[in-house]
Amino acid sequence: MPTVHFVKQNQTVECPVGTNLRQLALDNEIDLYSFPANLINCRGRAMCGTCRVKIDDVRAASAPHEDELAKVGWEGPQYRLACKTQVLADLEVVTNPRKAQGWTSHPTYKWMEDLPH
Ligand code: FES
Repeated sequence: MPTVHFVKQNQTVECPVGTNLRQLALDNEIDLYSFPANLINCRGRAMCGTCRVKIDDVRAASAPHEDELAKVGWEGPQYRLACKTQVLADLEVVTNPRKAQGWTSHPTYKWMEDLPH
């Protein structure tokens, strides 16, 4: 059985191959969401993007879902939606990763860097 290590929580959990990463986190009381997304989220429908995680090995997880690519694909293959990720092998997971420094870091808003300050 694969093991999933949640880095921020320093907690390691065993699970069967194919386990949904969001469900695994919730079942083990891992803080997957930050406030207020812990109260209001899409419940695993790939609509809100708040279950975003960073994984260490892209081959240890299922291929990204089409809906997932629209939400986190621009950040790179290590950024996934936990609700659309199945565990295939040993994995390290960072919950609430901070690559982007806010919405202006999205490539869509690159033009704003040229504006006078
Ligand atoms: S729970 Fe909303 S996108 Fe995963």
